[in-house]
Amino acid sequence: MGLVGLLALGMLASAPAGADDATEAKKIFTQRCTACHTYGKGVKVGPDLKGVTERRPRAWLLQFVRSSQRVINSGDPVASALFQQFKQQRMPDWSDLSEAQVGAILDWFAANGPEKREIDERNADVATPAEIEAGRALFHGKARFGGGGAACAGCHAIRDPEGKSGASFGPDLTDSYLRYRDRALTLFFKRPCFPRQPESSSPGFLTPQESFDLKAYLRQAALLDESKRGSR
Ligand code: HEC
Ligand code: HEC
Repeated sequence: MGLVGLLALGMLASAPAGADDATEAKKIFTQRCTACHTYGKGVKVGPDLKGVTERRPRAWLLQFVRSSQRVINSGDPVASALFQQFKQQRMPDWSDLSEAQVGAILDWFAANGPEKREIDERNADVATPAEIEAGRALFHGKARFGGGGAACAGCHAIRDPEGKSGASFGPDLTDSYLRYRDRALTLFFKRPCFPRQPESSSPGFLTPQESFDLKAYLRQAALLDESKRGSR
């Protein structure tokens, strides 16, 4: 078993089912399948996989993904026809993936996962008040990050409805949302700011939800500050 397989098994052992299955499915799909397949964007080297969980039985898919040649060689008419149609291009065997892992990919396809946006890719204007509040708590260290790590206010000041607070080691972030906007902030939050670099060795810096909550909080602070300046 390769390193990726070992890591994946580790994840399976420790992670509860649900969101983490989707995360793993996405990772495997991106690393091992997208060179030849799209989901909903047409034929590449192999067929478009959108709708594959409807056009094929699950048991067939579990076997085919792990060893397509074995299914083709067994004389299976559907597999043989596909193989002909795709000019006898061989799909690699993925026998190092467990049935549970392939199952997770199939569940993710069936739920239209590849076309769903990650939580943190949403724009901050759709945040609920609870998400903004969660972002505020994380920023000021009233709630802890899932992956550990220092609160933002330990280095950054910000002005919000309750006034200005935080340290001045890093830049004041009150208007950072206006300078970066959604997309750039989302990308920025994929990695810790430079002085926090040691934390980037831990696998997850911010979870997508934490990243989104912080972005929503920064947006609220920026808009409030802007409207105050406008009315002064
Ligand atoms: C090197 C190219 C290549 C890679 C990488 C690849 N495939 Fe394929 N796949 C194909 C080809 C080509 C076919 C068409 C059947 C054939 O030629 O064997 C196919 C067929 C399939 C089918 C059947 C589609 C249908 O319409 O019934 C599924 C499901 C599938 N692949 C899933 C995957 C998954 C999941 C991965 C990643 C773990 C993956 N493939 C990686 C080339 C690839
Ligand atoms: C250990 C201190 C420290 C912590 C903790 C920290 N930052 Fe920073 N941050 C900095 C410094 C210093 C800079 C300026 C240098 C840089 O861009 O890397 C910075 C830059 C930034 C910038 C860019 C600001 C600009 O004006 O361009 C943003 C946005 C930011 N941090 C957000 C955050 C958020 C959100 C958190 C909490 C998850 C956080 N930081 C935690 C020190 C820190």
